[in-house]
Amino acid sequence: MPRAKPHHTQREQWATRIGLVFAMAGNAVGLGNFLRFPVQCAQNGGGAFMIPYFVAFLLLGIPLMWIEWGIGRFGGKYGHGTTPGMFHYLWQHPLSKYLGAIGMAIPFGLVVYYTYIESWTLAYSFFSLTGKYAGIQTREGMAQFLTAYQGGTQNEYFSNIGTAYLFFVITLALNFWILSRGLVRGIEQISKVALPLLFVFGLILVVRVFSIGAPDPAYPERTVLSGLAFIWNPDFRTLTDSRVWVAAAGQIFFTLSVGFGAIQTYASYMSKRDDIVTSGLATASTNEFAEVVIGGSIAIPVAVAFFGLQATQDVAQGGAFNLGFFAMPIIFQRMPGAEFFGTIWFLLLFLAGITSSVAMAQPLMAFLQEEFHMRRQTAAVLVGGLAFFLMQPVIFFLPYGFLDEMDFWIGTMGLVVFAIIEVVLFVWVFGSRKAWKEICAGSDIRLPRIFYFVIKYVTPFYLFVLLGFWLIQDGWSVLTMSHVPKENYIYIWFARFLLTGILLLMILLVRIAWQRKHVIAQKVPK
Ligand code: TRP
Repeated sequence: MPRAKPHHTQREQWATRIGLVFAMAGNAVGLGNFLRFPVQCAQNGGGAFMIPYFVAFLLLGIPLMWIEWGIGRFGGKYGHGTTPGMFHYLWQHPLSKYLGAIGMAIPFGLVVYYTYIESWTLAYSFFSLTGKYAGIQTREGMAQFLTAYQGGTQNEYFSNIGTAYLFFVITLALNFWILSRGLVRGIEQISKVALPLLFVFGLILVVRVFSIGAPDPAYPERTVLSGLAFIWNPDFRTLTDSRVWVAAAGQIFFTLSVGFGAIQTYASYMSKRDDIVTSGLATASTNEFAEVVIGGSIAIPVAVAFFGLQATQDVAQGGAFNLGFFAMPIIFQRMPGAEFFGTIWFLLLFLAGITSSVAMAQPLMAFLQEEFHMRRQTAAVLVGGLAFFLMQPVIFFLPYGFLDEMDFWIGTMGLVVFAIIEVVLFVWVFGSRKAWKEICAGSDIRLPRIFYFVIKYVTPFYLFVLLGFWLIQDGWSVLTMSHVPKENYIYIWFARFLLTGILLLMILLVRIAWQRKHVIAQKVPK
């Protein structure tokens, strides 16, 4: 089959280069930077975590960033903003578009639970402002507060899930309202406001944290500095522990949004003369600044100053939300201006979250608009409606591990598998020389040749090793639900059923879209 010429249907494009970088950084900077990073870092030994983390950033994160921008801009030239169409042009094989369907299923599946967590941060901004949790002095108290909010139990603060549901509806509506306004007036606009604001909030919090010193005279060793030392003193002891390497690589993936299929969509709205190398690097660096400098300077140091190192690590062991939702509100209450600091902490999370969740929904939006010629508003209503529907079990079955199960398959497993697929297709099937040319075209700077070898050999190798270790370490025990209480099996199976359903739906959509193309191509005589 001869390669089709790029066709120039009018696709949306980013209005400005800075807008593009803001949107991309908004995509990457999310809850992962401020909630997931500190917890992962503390769970995996602080300074011991940071070494594999930076290795993964250099050998996986940055190369994948460029690869995804390259694939995305390449697909955009052919009028495709999603991976089915992009893969179709990378590999002229009937199967390629179905592999691309994974790149829609992953981000959309992520929307389904990420948006719910995002809605908690909006709710907590209000609770901080209005002093709803004021007076709760212990982490256990805050944990009960959250459980009751989520409808798990009842207490004097919440008698049912109503409040959580309301914030969920508001958050979802906001997301799809932004999406319905389109790329430039919606996504680019919100990113240009939210990202700077988030940095301002972050810096205020960092300054506040750094001025704490040793808050408890009984424990003079509990200082902000000892918290920072925990993160920044390299620790070589655990370098032989494969778990730390897997966790670090997982965090790099999650925080940079690579391996999901969403970066490609944003990159498809570039013009073919736009630069990838510097903009991709700027995006990745902005994300790392937000993560290690801002994210790393808030939750862990402040928790160490107030609770001590051991307790901070214990809190982190408890789960992804324990530092952000339990420890932080208590700490703020011990400072003057608790309402203010609590509000900007949760608003920061919300702003980080919303610029990410719109990015997760955009691939499916783009697919419906481009492959089904749907109007943007119609697509927003449809995608939003589908998300609303699928989020019901996430909300109501949360206490049974429904969300965790989804997060495991999408946020840990799916992205590594998808990253392998795209790297193999781009670098090995499409060809490393062509791939390199795609990445370097329009670049402001010359990309050092060494990265050619990294992209061709090191990154794929790293990915395969990672997948192998992951399968050995966690894969089997998750698959067999060895940590799940028997009575929850049914919910876990339901979660898997839902995930399979999402994937099948995307495959079906791809099939229908391609069949229609075929019919149209036959009708129009060349
Ligand atoms: N990077 C985002 C964060 O740090 C989350 C994320 C992961 C994401 N994958 C994504 C956002 C895909 C948009 C698209 O929270």
